[in-house]
Amino acid sequence: MKISAALAKELSGLPERATVMVVGEVDTGKSTLVALLARWFLSTGRKAAIVDADIGQADIGPPGFVSYGFPEQDFDSLKAVTRRASYMAGNTSPYGRGLNVAAGVQACVRDAKREGADVIVIDTSGLVRGVAGRQLKCAKAETVRPDLIVILSTPGVETLAGHLEHLGFHVRRFLPIPGARAKAAEERKNSRISRWNSYLGSNLRLIAVDLSRVKVCPWWGETRHVDTEYVPHGTVAAIQDPRRPGFHIPCVWMVAGQTGAELQPSILVPQDVEGEPVDVADGGPADGGPELVWVSGYKLGLEGTRVVSA
Ligand SMILES: Nc1ncnc2c1ncn2[C@@H]1O[C@H](COP(=O)(O)OP(=O)(O)OP(=O)(O)O)[C@@H](O)[C@H]1O
Ligand SMILES: [Mg+2]
Repeated sequence: MKISAALAKELSGLPERATVMVVGEVDTGKSTLVALLARWFLSTGRKAAIVDADIGQADIGPPGFVSYGFPEQDFDSLKAVTRRASYMAGNTSPYGRGLNVAAGVQACVRDAKREGADVIVIDTSGLVRGVAGRQLKCAKAETVRPDLIVILSTPGVETLAGHLEHLGFHVRRFLPIPGARAKAAEERKNSRISRWNSYLGSNLRLIAVDLSRVKVCPWWGETRHVDTEYVPHGTVAAIQDPRRPGFHIPCVWMVAGQTGAELQPSILVPQDVEGEPVDVADGGPADGGPELVWVSGYKLGLEGTRVVSA
């Protein structure tokens, strides 16, 4: 599949270094289009980054996080993009989390540019209607000022499209991707589970959390009370990414029998990221382990170390 001649013309008119955001209702083909756009930019010899701001149907990192990565030439879908860094949003629904998502998008764009991206393509969630959709999408756009906003045009996105135009953005409307199909709730749920398992991988590490030295904090985006005195098994958590200030390593809080010591919680983290070991002791206490763990209100169902609901 290729982009239309009209869209290619629009892209050709962009500056050499540009940011493009794709906006549309659910199941209109946003993620498919983001991959096509990134491939088109790669074919022009530019270094492209993809920022995945769809925290519900995340493709690059685990759900609940805004992530980015650099696609390889001829990659076929967003799921094939290696995660570079993630910013915690706290849950899978963008309702009430617009500020976190906007902060995450800004961090990802800034870091991708610092790493030499010429072009950044931003994938977004399908929340475009009403106040929530407007706030979320306008805040995202304002934080990074994209050079082009591609709207996958349906009646439901039109009010938002008008707002983005009034804010002075270069907005262009295109038809939804032909063949894009609606995903059932079950398929969305399975996709979240599979994203978590593929993020965690099979090479996992359990790091004991010594509560007498580790600070446990509710994530700043939490809208509901999070009990940091007793964090439930399966809670989505995060620690600072030692290699990337301002980013987070997604992890899962484990308790109850998983470590053999009932009262000693631990966090489940991938053994390595991009082939590099995750050295959580960097900058942490001398005996290793993180100094601070952020916890969210987002809970995963686990069987052993496998995610079975998300
Ligand atoms: N040309 C096509 N032929 C067949 N299937 C397609 C085509 N384009 C997209 N799809 C499928 O349609 C579904 C919706 O597309 P996609 O995931 O790109 O939409 P989206 O707008 O990103 O959805 P969401 O709102 O969940 O993020 C996906 O399962 C995708 O694989
Ligand atoms: Mg999508």
